[in-house]
Amino acid sequence: MKIIVTGAAGMLGRAVVAHCTSLGESVAGFDHHALDITDESKLSLVFEQECPNLLINCAAWTDVDGCELDPVRAQGINARGPELLADACRRAGAQLITISTDYVFDGDKDGFYTQRDQPNPRSVYGASKLEGERRAQTAWANTIVVRSGYIFGSGGTNFLSTVVARARRGESLKAIGDSLGTPTYAPHLAQRLYQLAQVAVPGIYHVVNSGEGTSFEGFARRALEAAGLNGALVEGISLGALKRPAPRPRNSRLRCVLSQAIGLEPLPSWQDAVGEFIANDSP
Ligand SMILES: NC(=O)c1ccc[n+]([C@@H]2O[C@H](COP(=O)([O-])OP(=O)(O)OC[C@H]3O[C@@H](n4cnc5c(N)ncnc54)[C@H](OP(=O)(O)O)[C@@H]3O)[C@@H](O)[C@H]2O)c1
Repeated sequence: MKIIVTGAAGMLGRAVVAHCTSLGESVAGFDHHALDITDESKLSLVFEQECPNLLINCAAWTDVDGCELDPVRAQGINARGPELLADACRRAGAQLITISTDYVFDGDKDGFYTQRDQPNPRSVYGASKLEGERRAQTAWANTIVVRSGYIFGSGGTNFLSTVVARARRGESLKAIGDSLGTPTYAPHLAQRLYQLAQVAVPGIYHVVNSGEGTSFEGFARRALEAAGLNGALVEGISLGALKRPAPRPRNSRLRCVLSQAIGLEPLPSWQDAVGEFIANDSP
């Protein structure tokens, strides 16, 4: 199989390239500089050169507040980008997997969001990602959309590494305690993306580590505990106190109603995944 990964220098992109390469697949990873997903002519050139069977799109503008302040740019990268990739995949007969977000939901529901729940994004970022899902699916029927949330891993702007590094210096830190999500370890997500490519059933999937989910405060405390540090260094604050430009959902926990039906086991618990991250990836 020939696999192209876009956004290959990002947190998830790195994990996807590493995982697919470790399986002996032929992988071409393109970072933002090597391939801007909104550059149609470069995209055609890359497809001519690489002749992929599968494209895994990890490229996105993930700065949630930046998107709020520049909706045109957000739309261009997060909505038009996946559509262009889907067009290119359709022409080449290649499968497309594109990553979306828990922020497509408004957060008003109690409990977990499944694929049966109606998205209702509150932020420009969430709206642009939802538009990207829809445009990609419309452009190419062989598209798999994977929604995930609270992704952590090495590389990129990494909340957990920052938390651990600060705690090692004895510094206290603040983390949001009143909004919930389902943490997802990038290498586990990468494994599941590859499995979904093998199963090859188009549709929308929710992929997160298992468990009841947590807040950033709980997430940070678990990381400190796994690193043998003092969890009391984390101070919980409220989402509202941060006064950021973009609204965030108060609850964006995800659950999948499809994975088990197609024979995929739940991913490890998020607590175990944080332990794995601290053992393998944390500075
Ligand atoms: N992180 C999370 O908690 C989270 C949660 C839910 C869903 N997601 C989704 O998961 C996917 C991967 O996110 P991530 O956490 O790995 O984010 P990330 O570390 O910010 O990686 C995104 C990558 O995309 C690149 N990029 C931006 N614009 C591009 C363009 N026009 N063409 C090509 N590449 C471009 C960025 O490069 P530059 O930095 O050089 O611009 C960056 O390397 C995204 O679809 C994101 O929406 C993330």
